[in-house]
Amino acid sequence: MMDHSVAGDDAPCAVGDDLGAVVASAFRLFARGVADRRSAFRTPSVATVGADGAPRVRTMVLRGFDAAARRLTLHTDRRGEKFGDIVRMPRVAVHVYDARAAIQIRLGATARVHVDDAVARAAWQRGLPASRACYAIEPAPGRSVAAPPAAPVFSEAGFANFAVLAVEFDRLEWLWLHHAGHRRARFEWAADGGCGASWLVP
Ligand SMILES: Cc1cc2nc3c(=O)[nH]c(=O)nc-3n(C[C@H](O)[C@H](O)[C@H](O)COP(=O)(O)O)c2cc1C
Repeated sequence: MMDHSVAGDDAPCAVGDDLGAVVASAFRLFARGVADRRSAFRTPSVATVGADGAPRVRTMVLRGFDAAARRLTLHTDRRGEKFGDIVRMPRVAVHVYDARAAIQIRLGATARVHVDDAVARAAWQRGLPASRACYAIEPAPGRSVAAPPAAPVFSEAGFANFAVLAVEFDRLEWLWLHHAGHRRARFEWAADGGCGASWLVP
């Protein structure tokens, strides 16, 4: 069953009743994804629009969640395709399906990139050497090679390739599969932070 227990002054969308509890529970799932490696919210799918206009989707690790800013934090290699996609077209979509909770969440969001700035430096310093080693791989991710390359070893030089993606969502759609009737709701935030919410036909 869903936990509908938390609302209050810091509610992510002050719409009251069950809709307010739904969006609060959705925010808690993202917060849990950062802390719990086994949570489905640990590894969202992130979709970008490619240079050819076609969608591209891939799994990423959720590194941070700021509920007040409605922001997910992700890490990637700036040499990868998705980085170029986001620079060209910052609009992205995020998808998670949590089979245990029977909940799907879809986000509409705008991504900002951080490379060689204070945000990137702080995240780099917090990272484990084993994770940071990936950024030293040569040649660049996605290149075609004659054989799989050797595993990279940690190097501070990898920081030049390290990027933080700050993904701020303004749209959240929630779907809960339940034998007594599926439920679906949409939440949208305006630029001034005001939130609208609606039940949808599932
Ligand atoms: C469980 C899992 C976690 C992943 N986490 C990340 C990640 O945090 N950042 C990332 O750039 N790629 C991550 N990847 C790899 C991406 O899914 C993708 O294959 C790679 O980044 C290349 O994507 P691109 O060519 O669209 O840039 C992960 C893959 C898996 C299976």
